[in-house]
Amino acid sequence: PAAPIRVLVTGAAGQIAYSVIFMIASGQMFGPHQPVILHLLDIAKMADALKGVVMEIDDGAFPLVAGVVATTDIKAAFMGIQVALLIGAFPRGPGMQRKDLLKMNASIFKEQGEALKNYASRSVKVLVVGNPANTNALTTMTQASGLPASNFSALTRLDQNRALSMIAEKVGVNVNKVKNVIIWGNHSLTQLINRFLCYNSRVPDVNSAYIQNYPSPSVITPVSTAVNDEKWIREQFIPLVQNRGAAVIAARKLSSAASAATAVVCHMRDWVLGTKDGEIVSMAVCSDGSYNVPKGLIFSFPVTCRGGEWTIVQGLKITDFIQSKIDLTIKELNEEKEAALSFLN
Ligand code: NAI
Repeated sequence: PAAPIRVLVTGAAGQIAYSVIFMIASGQMFGPHQPVILHLLDIAKMADALKGVVMEIDDGAFPLVAGVVATTDIKAAFMGIQVALLIGAFPRGPGMQRKDLLKMNASIFKEQGEALKNYASRSVKVLVVGNPANTNALTTMTQASGLPASNFSALTRLDQNRALSMIAEKVGVNVNKVKNVIIWGNHSLTQLINRFLCYNSRVPDVNSAYIQNYPSPSVITPVSTAVNDEKWIREQFIPLVQNRGAAVIAARKLSSAASAATAVVCHMRDWVLGTKDGEIVSMAVCSDGSYNVPKGLIFSFPVTCRGGEWTIVQGLKITDFIQSKIDLTIKELNEEKEAALSFLN
């Protein structure tokens, strides 16, 4: 049998973790034959809740779980890890300014970046989920000097999945027929609803997307042709994707958790096991200057994955409308970056 993979989940007593841990344990992230050792980190005041999560992992009797390291100690949590799902973050409280939020998170992700540098496998794959995810990933990467920039990513797959599902519903096909909707840019700090921060300046782009086997088997139709309603795409679809998190909060009185966990599994599974031929997914990764995005920003790009490495897909056509939105998200990310880096020294 394969040697177990050591997977760290931070924020392990929180909502998203409560779904994602059990998906990993049941083999959805690394496949049905890959054992895992779960490293679970939360803060001291959550130690009892974390014990409860471990009891439930035990009670699941998962054949793939080869061990559990549940701890509030950062060194024990990061020791030897090969995959890091950085989900725990500092939430914005009432009256808290955006600057304070960036500051609190800079200190968390500074410490975790250093822990990656000191204790993790050199090939550790890092996925930052805790918001502001792009900038937290940037802080982590900056502090983990010596580890390759290609080890770091942030989550935009939830936005991609939301977009796929909305297009499928509009056209009237199963979601697995819709391919290559792209999410560009950032999760930005824009709104506070029911004490939850909502992030809604990410840019969904259907210009490279198509519907498989539509309208008949073995035919491929561009999404723009299948939808045939540019006004709907600009005025309904894009804001619906951007505001979906807020809509879930309004309905559930809690933020998206099971769907976020699903997106975490999709992101890491594709990174480790590879994307399907011809299929593009979105991951926020370190820009190499592709599409004129400033080098070094953690930015959501179209990627494919093979052999455990991601590659930015080049040469996609970007309309002026999408470019204007990409410019805004770059501006915002640059501002967040400046603020976060100013707290690190
Ligand atoms: P939650 O509040 O239920 O859980 C967060 C957990 O993190 C708590 O148990 C907390 O004690 C822990 N935590 C805080 N600081 C920590 C630290 N320094 N080390 C370890 N653990 C720490 O939140 P939930 O719903 O699980 O969401 C987690 C994060 O994911 C939030 O920042 C949320 O905004 C973000 N998110 C990101 C999405 C994305 O698409 N990128 C989608 C949905 C949520």
